[in-house]
Amino acid sequence: MEPLQRRIALVTGANRGIGLEIARQLAVRGFHVWMAARDLRKAAAVAQELAVDGRMVDAVQLEVTRSESALAAAAAIQSRCGRLDVLVNNAGVLMDRQQPPSLTPPDVLRSTMETNVIGVLKVTRSLLPLLRESGRGRVINISSGGGQLADMMSSVWAPAYQISKTALNALTMLLAGELKPQGISVNVICPGWCRTEMGGESAPNSAEQGADTAVWLATEAPAELTGKFFRNRQEIPW
Ligand SMILES: NC(=O)c1ccc[n+]([C@@H]2O[C@H](COP(=O)([O-])OP(=O)(O)OC[C@H]3O[C@@H](n4cnc5c(N)ncnc54)[C@H](OP(=O)(O)O)[C@@H]3O)[C@@H](O)[C@H]2O)c1
Repeated sequence: MEPLQRRIALVTGANRGIGLEIARQLAVRGFHVWMAARDLRKAAAVAQELAVDGRMVDAVQLEVTRSESALAAAAAIQSRCGRLDVLVNNAGVLMDRQQPPSLTPPDVLRSTMETNVIGVLKVTRSLLPLLRESGRGRVINISSGGGQLADMMSSVWAPAYQISKTALNALTMLLAGELKPQGISVNVICPGWCRTEMGGESAPNSAEQGADTAVWLATEAPAELTGKFFRNRQEIPW
């Protein structure tokens, strides 16, 4: 079992982009990091790169749309560590761009929801017993300003993706209410527009900058913060 002073984190979609950067920053801060990817070879490759200077990094296969995969990942962490302190639901897809909302292909919306919303539910459910063992569990969901209802009428750029992130925000609020009495916080962040495969090369922020608020929530943020939406470490409107 892991000593209590070394915190344990699982990051989904950790093989590239913002997930890789969140995993790196947590490993540097002394976390035992489980890097999850749907392709185990990719997870193993990045875990090997990060596991230097005494850092504790493990790779685990996790396809977020498959409950069996999430349960197998939970079993692996259970047998090595016995608990989980931080779950970062980072894996996500952007499958549509710029079409009018009324022309959103239903299949694209369905597939997007499968990963960005239902996947988060499947992963969180599977890891909850381990988060309860922590006694100080933190769930951090990676959303997007694109899911903010506050200015959605005037900011339409990928309707299926935007709907999925609004739904993810709702799931966050609901879980936060349920899990607060159990000492588990659940928050959601917008990383800002970042240079990744999803964000493209013209984005203004690096993946490192995009990871900052999630890492802050995993480490320095007050434990009592829950059910909130953050960007740049500041609360933002739904
Ligand atoms: N980049 C931005 O500007 C931006 C802005 C706002 C929010 N976000 C959010 O930030 C998060 C990370 O985005 P990113 O820019 O780093 O994207 P990215 O470079 O496209 O990386 C996405 C990651 O999610 C993984 N993934 C996708 N579907 C999966 C599934 N079914 N099971 C397991 N893993 C899956 C990918 O794995 P594979 O390599 O196997 O495909 C990859 O590791 C996403 O939730 C995204 O919506 C990004």
